Amino acid sequence: MTEKIRIIDAKEHVNEEVKIGAWLTDKRSSGKIAFLQLRDGSAYFQGVVSKADVSDEVFKLAKELRQESSMWITGVIHQDSRSHFGYEIEVRDIELVGDSEDYPITPKEHGIEFLLDHRHLWLRSKRQFAIQQIRNEMIRATFEFFNNEGFIKMDPPILTDSAPEGTTELFETDYFDKKAYLSQSGQLYAEAGAMAYGKVFTCGPVFRAEKSKTRRHLTEFWMIEPEMAFCHQEESLKVQERYVAYLVQAVLDNCSYPLHLLGRDPEVLKQYTKLPYPRISYKKAIEMLQDAGMDVKYGDDFGSPEETYLSDQFDQPVFVLNYPKNIKPFYMLTDPDDPQQYVCADMLAPEGYGEIIGGSERETDYDTLKASIEKAGLDLDEYEWYLDLRKYGSVPHSGFGLGLERAITWICKLDHLREAIPFPRIINRLKP
Ligand code: 4AD
Ligand code: MG
Repeated sequence: MTEKIRIIDAKEHVNEEVKIGAWLTDKRSSGKIAFLQLRDGSAYFQGVVSKADVSDEVFKLAKELRQESSMWITGVIHQDSRSHFGYEIEVRDIELVGDSEDYPITPKEHGIEFLLDHRHLWLRSKRQFAIQQIRNEMIRATFEFFNNEGFIKMDPPILTDSAPEGTTELFETDYFDKKAYLSQSGQLYAEAGAMAYGKVFTCGPVFRAEKSKTRRHLTEFWMIEPEMAFCHQEESLKVQERYVAYLVQAVLDNCSYPLHLLGRDPEVLKQYTKLPYPRISYKKAIEMLQDAGMDVKYGDDFGSPEETYLSDQFDQPVFVLNYPKNIKPFYMLTDPDDPQQYVCADMLAPEGYGEIIGGSERETDYDTLKASIEKAGLDLDEYEWYLDLRKYGSVPHSGFGLGLERAITWICKLDHLREAIPFPRIINRLKP
């Protein structure tokens, strides 16, 4: 019996006859030979069909095959030193499974809107395959990292009645006779989790009705939010840098083929595994921006140009510490050394990528937190349960949120977040 294998496992079957379910991505043929470019979702490689090795029917079929038709390929695996992948299949038989006519994404260049309209097919291309492989590895490594560190994965609700990160970016929906909002962040629930289980992390979709049309904003994105009880900010910063270095190392260890397909130099990524990451204060960041001639002052939030400038000044991810209160959410702990700012930090990725993590120590005092909620103009009723966490054994606790697509975009060196998620949701796109 011929064994059914996946392309990625070809190296274990050299000189054996195997069967592979594959699609045709491209083809080249001349008189007595046809070269089939094949993919099966695990890798891409070449099938060589020689007229002398196959029946006339099969050779005719090989020459007629169209882009993205699917087939069973039977053949013998050989080493192929000319390709980066290193193996190819000498085809003995082809059984057409599903024909394909006029596949819209041809090997020529296409515009980005056209590709996004055909995202359901675009996912099949090499570059998109590579990005999704790296995304998968980063999710796998996330679960591994936090499980190794004794965290429990906790799933917060998506339908909520609260606005942890501010009220201007909420997607509203009907919830029977009430209004509900799609969650902006699982953090408040993760805090309840931390008080119950010590160390928790979330990993799931969150929603922001961002009107901004930048390459850094999605309206639906995935966030990983760890939350730790009995933990001050300093300890949280250490977890953050260990986590990010772990993600980079996991991609280096397990994604060399996807990195090659993307043309991402592993040597550049290697330097991001070195700890600790540099730190600057928000005040210092303002000074650096002013020195560079940018028009910013204490109290201003950073937009993309400011973040890009700052992150370009470092060879590694950099923490910007202790932002002023007016640009951060209500739940953060007031800085004991300077009450106009919070004990918080953003991590900016290098190579101009900007913020990938936002985090802070949390306010633990009932009255202070209550006053902050009121000051933020939020409805106290909705936060009663959250305030309870400060009533029954309140402890110092800290946490952070890593934007998965931001991290992928940086690690893969992409231009835009929209390629980092299978079906991107941006301001003017809900389809496919
Ligand atoms: O800085 P943010 O808004 O922080 C929070 O939501 C906190 N509750 C996290 C916490 O402390 N548990 O968002 C966290 C991260 C950002 O650093 C960024 O990487 C990503 O989420 N992010 C976005 N990613 C894609 N599109 C958007 N519109 C994003 N907004 C934030
Ligand atoms: Mg932020």
